[in-house]
Amino acid sequence: MGELYIFESERLGFRRWKDDDREGFAEMNANPEVMEFFPDTLTKDESDKLIERFEQHTEEKGFGIWAVERKEDGAFIGFIGLLEVGFDAGFPGAVEIGWRLDNKFWKRGYAAEGAKATLDYAFKILDMNEICSFTAQTNKPSEMVMQRIGMTKAGEFDHPKLEKGSPLKKHVLYRITTGEYAAL
Ligand SMILES: CC(C)(COP(=O)(O)OP(=O)(O)OC[C@H]1O[C@@H](n2cnc3c(N)ncnc32)[C@H](O)[C@@H]1OP(=O)(O)O)[C@@H](O)C(=O)NCCC(=O)NCCS
Repeated sequence: MGELYIFESERLGFRRWKDDDREGFAEMNANPEVMEFFPDTLTKDESDKLIERFEQHTEEKGFGIWAVERKEDGAFIGFIGLLEVGFDAGFPGAVEIGWRLDNKFWKRGYAAEGAKATLDYAFKILDMNEICSFTAQTNKPSEMVMQRIGMTKAGEFDHPKLEKGSPLKKHVLYRITTGEYAAL
C-alpha cells in the first residue's frame, strides 16, 4: 500500500485527492463542529471547489494540501498540507502548514502525527527553510497542534481576509525553521 502515498507517517498516508474524497470532505465542511473557527460551513459546491484549488496549487508548485488516509483501513480522515500564504500579513515565511480533520478522527493524535510528517517532508524533501502556521486566537485545538510539533509563537495579527469585528479576526502566528526542526 505504501506506493500509493507521496509520504507517510506511522498510521497515515498522504496522497493527491480522488473523486471519492469529495463526499466525505463535503460532509466534514458542512459540520458546524468541524467549522467552529471558520466564518461559515461550506456547501458541497464550495467544498468541491476547495479540492480543485488544492489540486491546482499542487500542480503548479509541486506541494499543497494533501488528502490524508488512515493506512489501516484506507479511511479518508481530512487534510494536512502546505500552502503558499495568499495574503500579505506583514510577516515573512510564505509557506503555511494547515490541517482539518473530520471530528470522527479527533483526539487520537492523528493531526500532530501527520503535521510532523508534513514538516519532515517540507524540510528534508522539499528543502524549505521555514514554515509558518496561523489560526484564530480562540482555536486552541489547532494552536496545540502547532505546539506539539515544535513550532513557536511568533506573534499575533488581524487576518486581512476576515471582516472587522469578526470574533475570528485575531490570529496567532507560529513558525519553525529547518534548523529549529533539526534540533528538536
Ligand atoms: C485542529 C485539529 C486537527 C486538532 O485535532 P486533535 O484531535 O485535537 O489533535 P491531535 O490529532 O493531534 O490529537 C491530540 C489529542 O489526542 C489525544 N490522543 C489520543 N490518543 C493519542 C495517541 N495515540 N497519540 C497522540 N495523542 C493521542 C491527545 O491526548 C490529545 O488530546 P488533548 O488535546 O485532549 O490532550 C481538529 O480540532 C480539527 O480538525 N479542527 C477543525 C479544523 C481546524 O480548525 N483547523 C485548523 C484551522 S487553522
